[in-house]
Amino acid sequence: MPHQTIVVLDFGSQYTQLIARRLRELSVYTEVLPFNTPVERLREKEPAGIILSGGPKSVSDAGAPKCDPGLFDLGRPVLGICYGMQLMAASLGGAVAPAPQREFGHALVTVGAGSGSAGSAGDPAALFAGVPSEIRVWASHGDFVAAPPPGFSVTATSANAPVAAMANGDRRLHALLFHPEVVHTESGLDILRNFACGVCGCTGDWTMASFVEEATARIRAQVGGGRVVCGLSGGVDSTVAALILHRAIGDQLTCIFVDNGVLRLDEAAQIRKRFERLQLPLVFADASQLFLERLANVTDPETKRKIIGATFIDVFEEEAAKLGHVEFLAQGTLYPDVIESVPIVGQASLIKSHHNVGGLPARMRMTLVEPLRELFKDEVREVGRKMGLEEEFVVRQPFPGPGLAVRIVGTITPERVEILRAADAIVTEEIKRAGLYRELWQSFAVLPAVRTVGVMGDERTYAYPIVIRAVTSDDAMTADWARLPYDVLERLSSRIINEVPGVNRVALDISSKPPATIEWE
Ligand code: XMP
Repeated sequence: MPHQTIVVLDFGSQYTQLIARRLRELSVYTEVLPFNTPVERLREKEPAGIILSGGPKSVSDAGAPKCDPGLFDLGRPVLGICYGMQLMAASLGGAVAPAPQREFGHALVTVGAGSGSAGSAGDPAALFAGVPSEIRVWASHGDFVAAPPPGFSVTATSANAPVAAMANGDRRLHALLFHPEVVHTESGLDILRNFACGVCGCTGDWTMASFVEEATARIRAQVGGGRVVCGLSGGVDSTVAALILHRAIGDQLTCIFVDNGVLRLDEAAQIRKRFERLQLPLVFADASQLFLERLANVTDPETKRKIIGATFIDVFEEEAAKLGHVEFLAQGTLYPDVIESVPIVGQASLIKSHHNVGGLPARMRMTLVEPLRELFKDEVREVGRKMGLEEEFVVRQPFPGPGLAVRIVGTITPERVEILRAADAIVTEEIKRAGLYRELWQSFAVLPAVRTVGVMGDERTYAYPIVIRAVTSDDAMTADWARLPYDVLERLSSRIINEVPGVNRVALDISSKPPATIEWE
């Protein structure tokens, strides 16, 4: 059953996906499409409303991204945010100019004009129904709207922007110079709700319970009586994918987990236990020996990643072959991986290259089943909870596909894996004990390839240091080093040095990303 859909056109703002996530929190299905999506394609989607995102450009720049101008005549509600507002103004006969006083960060907006707080769909002030008359907002713009287009009224103002919001109530065209999707904007979610529910008439028909029902039906229709193999990474995505598949097709599903020898302490046992409890069919391939043999004496980070990727494929292929004829391969691909994006002239591309396990060769000739392609990570977690995954697992920090290997600088030997495993377990335990685990994006230990001198008892030691890496981040594209409390650092240092043989020193990584990366390799 198609859901009421809001389409967000992406003009390159770092917040575009956040707009979609916020609307989905309101149970409104939202898709992100490129800014230049032709109007015919938009019409086919029958969107309940369209949002024009922010973007880094100025509308007067050469090569500034423009939407199909027919969009404003579709008769659908449109909300322009920041750049989207400026584009709406410029496209419909208003004036956009460089602001005498640029606004970056907090601004105080006075909501006022319009016809009152009734919030009916045609009310120019509909976005501000129930919103206080003064709100602190998050702004980030160099241009502003000097004069709204004919037919528009000004619905909010700020000290530096005479038109902080504008609307043409009859045509249901609304625009905000600030970002309602950002948590720093007071009443931001109310404003988005007013647009989605008040102006566009969405009823909130996108829930995770309905998603599971529909995904189950879709999988059954795609797979029929066929067999499906699902490669597990040990993380939340592939586990949730497996759960939905199992619900849909029962024992036609087999999950394969490959132990690559660089898992964290007890991780293999935990995965086995979890799958047993959930009664999911699991083939557990312990290939740690093979991986460690192939990794022996390899120090180049890229080569390590390649060896791990290739070895995973070898083992996975061998295990899959034992199952006989299998037509389908399940993957936990998420929505951010499938959003179409178009590069905007002059904007740095932010693409990360990952060497994930799971990219299988074409020779395996299996058809992909991707039950999570529509979901954001928070939604996957929600589905996981609904399907019985334990909270501790659902909220776990990201862990890279190549495992501890990208945290062991230099050669990977069974002894060095043991050292890092033990240190990593202490870091996780202490960070959890301090109540910091969930607010940190990642926190872990790194084993460098140097040894340093120390003294233990009366003995001189020559042993490895452990580096603590803890970062805060929203999306791993940028990250800041976490200011861990001194008492936590003290416990980490004393426990690691006392409890992990082969370590005589603990250091703290205080680099942000960029220019460093989160992982060391
Ligand atoms: P970097 O180190 O590039 O990492 O700042 C960004 C985020 O990606 C994770 N990461 C990976 N995740 N396979 C993954 O699934 C990989 O090969 C991989 N390499 C890095 C890293 O942990 C961080 O969250």
